[in-house]
Amino acid sequence: MVTANKSSKGSNILEFDNDAIRAREQEVAQETDQSIMDRLRERFKILDDMTLAVKQGNVRAMIVSGPPGVGKSYGVESVLEKADLFNKLAEKKPKYEIVKGAMSAIGLYAKLYEFSAPGNVVVFDDCDSILMEDLSLNILKGALDSSSRRFISWNTDSRILRSEGIPDRFEFKGAAIFITNIKFEHVRSKKLRDHLDALESRCHYIDLQMDTTREKILRIKQIITDGMLDRYDFDKPDEVRDELVKFIDDNQTKLRELSLRMVLKLADLRKSFPENWQATARTTCMKRG
Ligand SMILES: Nc1ncnc2c1ncn2[C@@H]1O[C@H](COP(=O)(O)OP(=O)(O)OP(=O)(O)O)[C@@H](O)[C@H]1O
Ligand SMILES: [Mg+2]
Repeated sequence: MVTANKSSKGSNILEFDNDAIRAREQEVAQETDQSIMDRLRERFKILDDMTLAVKQGNVRAMIVSGPPGVGKSYGVESVLEKADLFNKLAEKKPKYEIVKGAMSAIGLYAKLYEFSAPGNVVVFDDCDSILMEDLSLNILKGALDSSSRRFISWNTDSRILRSEGIPDRFEFKGAAIFITNIKFEHVRSKKLRDHLDALESRCHYIDLQMDTTREKILRIKQIITDGMLDRYDFDKPDEVRDELVKFIDDNQTKLRELSLRMVLKLADLRKSFPENWQATARTTCMKRG
C-alpha cells in the first residue's frame, strides 16, 4: 500500500510504500545491533568521503537521500566547512554555498553561475520544489550531469540576468550536491519518477537508508555515544545520557519523530527543566492519544 502526501501543486512529493517498509523491518529484525550500527556508520563515512571527493572536484555531482533529522545536512556541511577552512582563515568568500528551501528557476540558474568555477560546490538542501518545475529541473539536470563538460543555458531573454551580468549560457565547472527526504524508489508518480530516474542516472546517489524504528534508535544511540550531548555540559553527563536514551527507547512509538533532532529537543528540555522535563516532553514531543 502506498500512502501519498500531496504537495500544494498536486503532484506526489513524498510517498511511503508501507509494504516495502514492513518487508525492510523483517530484514532488519534478522540483523544484530552491532551489524546495524556498523552498517550505519559505514554509510555516513561514505557520505563524508564522497562529500570530500565533491569538494576536491573528483566527484562532480551527488544526490543524498534519507529520512528527516538523521544527519544528512550535518554530515555534508561539516565536511565542506572543514575542507574550506583555508579560505575562511584567509577571510575569503567560501567556495561553497548551502541553499535551503524554495528557489525559482532563474535563482537556481544565477546561483549555479555564481559557483561555476572549478573547486566550487553548491548544495541544494531540502530544495525539493526544484523537482516539481520543468524549467528548474532541466537546469538541475544540467548541473548534476557527470559528463565531462556541462553547459547550462537560459533560453529566454532576461532583464534580471542581463543586469547582473550573467550570460545566457555558461559552462558549469563546479560541483553540486542535492540533499532530499524523497526516497527515489518509492515515488510512484510516473512524471516525477522519470525525472528522478534521469537525475539518478546522471550522478552518484547515496541513500542513507534508515527506514525502520530499530535502525533509527540505534543511530540515535550511536551519535549520543559519540558525544552529541557534550555541548550541553550536563552536571552528571553519563546519568543524563542514560536517562535520555531510556526515555527515547521507552517512548519510541509515541514520539512525534525518531531523529537526532528529537534528541536535541529532549536534551533542551532536560537542561531547562531538570526535575520535570519528561512531563513537558510528553506534551510537546509526543503524538496525541
Ligand atoms: N554526527 C552528529 N553529531 C552531532 N550532532 C549531529 C550529528 N548529526 C546530526 N546532528 C544534529 O542533529 C540534528 C539533525 O541533523 P540534520 O539537520 O543534519 O538532519 P537532516 O538529515 O539533514 O534532516 P532533514 O532531512 O530534516 O533536513 C542537527 O541539529 C544536527 O546538528
Ligand atoms: Mg537537512
